[in-house]
Amino acid sequence: MNTHLFSRRGASARRPAGTAKRSPKRAPGLRLRRAGVGDVEALDALEQAVFSGDRMRRRQFLHHVQAQSSDLIVAVSQQQLLGYALLLRRRGIRSCRVYSIAVSSAARGQGLGALLLQRLERIARANGLGEIRLEVRQDNTTALALYESRGYRRFGAHSGYYEDGADAWRLAKSLVPKPRRRSSRSGAGSA
Ligand SMILES: CC(C)(COP(=O)(O)OP(=O)(O)OC[C@H]1O[C@@H](n2cnc3c(N)ncnc32)[C@H](O)[C@@H]1OP(=O)(O)O)[C@@H](O)C(=O)NCCC(=O)NCCS
Repeated sequence: MNTHLFSRRGASARRPAGTAKRSPKRAPGLRLRRAGVGDVEALDALEQAVFSGDRMRRRQFLHHVQAQSSDLIVAVSQQQLLGYALLLRRRGIRSCRVYSIAVSSAARGQGLGALLLQRLERIARANGLGEIRLEVRQDNTTALALYESRGYRRFGAHSGYYEDGADAWRLAKSLVPKPRRRSSRSGAGSA
């Protein structure tokens, strides 16, 4: 299987100057919605600004805006595109993939990345999917912190996965709620 078909990279992100640990302030009028053809230009501009390599191209955005198996979600505030996230599903497969998440540098550290990820998980669950997977650069400590703090676990690696030869971690999260452990006292009839 060509893993590059469904997965990719992350920028080597660092907390940008002036975005010290989380301000709970949200951008005014923040809205998450499905991307449309009219968002493609702004998506392309954000992609250029955020990633230095392995970028998605304009025609790929155009494809994902229209493809039934793609969920391309944008975060918009006052007509400005602040971020996007892309989920890829495949017919007959119970696992799906976070292909990309990006937040503009000015909007980072405010919970937007987590919000976008949560939205993708909600979509995956609504489609009856049991697992979500992704790849992330091993040097992308910010994105790794985002994923691992939200329950994603490393299960493998791809060496030389990215255009510049960087390695990727493979991460996965089960979307199936764990069965609740029955109390050993349940049904015992005594207290
Ligand atoms: C990764 C990215 C999407 C995070 O977006 P964000 O809106 O800044 O993230 P949030 O504010 O929602 O933070 C979510 C979690 O990410 C982690 N995180 C965010 N910024 C961090 C930083 N600078 N340093 C360390 N961890 C950080 C934390 O675990 C945080 O959770 P917490 O606030 O509960 O501790 C953003 O940094 C980005 O677009 N980076 C460049 C593109 C990229 O690398 N995409 C991922 C490709 S796999």
